[in-house]
Amino acid sequence: MIENPTRASYDIIATDYAEYLANELDDRPVDRAMLAAFAEIAGAGGRVADVGCGPGRVTTLLHDLGLDAYGMDLSPGMLAVARKTYPHLLFEEGTMSALDVVDGELAGIVAWYSIIHIAPDQRPAVFAELHRALAPGAPLLLAFQVGDEALRVSEALGHEVALDFQRLRPERIADELTAAGFAMYATLVRERIGNDKVQQAVVLARRGV
Ligand SMILES: C[S@@+](CC[C@H](N)C(=O)[O-])C[C@H]1O[C@@H](n2cnc3c(N)ncnc32)[C@H](O)[C@@H]1O
Repeated sequence: MIENPTRASYDIIATDYAEYLANELDDRPVDRAMLAAFAEIAGAGGRVADVGCGPGRVTTLLHDLGLDAYGMDLSPGMLAVARKTYPHLLFEEGTMSALDVVDGELAGIVAWYSIIHIAPDQRPAVFAELHRALAPGAPLLLAFQVGDEALRVSEALGHEVALDFQRLRPERIADELTAAGFAMYATLVRERIGNDKVQQAVVLARRGV
């Protein structure tokens, strides 16, 4: 079997990645405001998935906001770190291309800097899958770097990796989400903070009812 380079890369950097980003959201109040708005719309009525959860820093924030949140990720290394750091939370291995939930099961989905690893031609199928998994009216929250570039990173946090990711245009994502059956709710584009290289976007949409 050919190893998935995204999974292998995140396995290698998992521990250092968790440390590097542990407190990153502390000085990003508008990012946290979007997560809080998402939590308020999702409510406490059902399970919420943090897809591409990595070390679980957003999963725990969603839990602290009162949600029944669990994390899901491609990388066993990331999941091991998440489970060790947050033993009270559930973390599952999987892919956002095929979620292990029945139609309409989820009260909300967050994909925080994880759709960046989906190839553009695969995004419509992934958005269709997220739509399938959500209950009518349930919110979807996406975070990503703003731009047009497809990038390949060969070194991260002192490790050799092979990570392909996309910078994305919020207008394009809005069009794709609308085509998948979502109603756009809010789009945040904020300026760079700390180590950000470009503007950052957070997009909030809801599954149509
Ligand atoms: C940039 S990290 C973000 C992690 C976390 N959301 C955070 O903000 O700390 C991207 C994560 O997405 C995961 N990922 C990439 N493609 C995925 C897929 N198709 N399904 C699930 N997770 C995926 C990676 O393993 C990695 O943990």
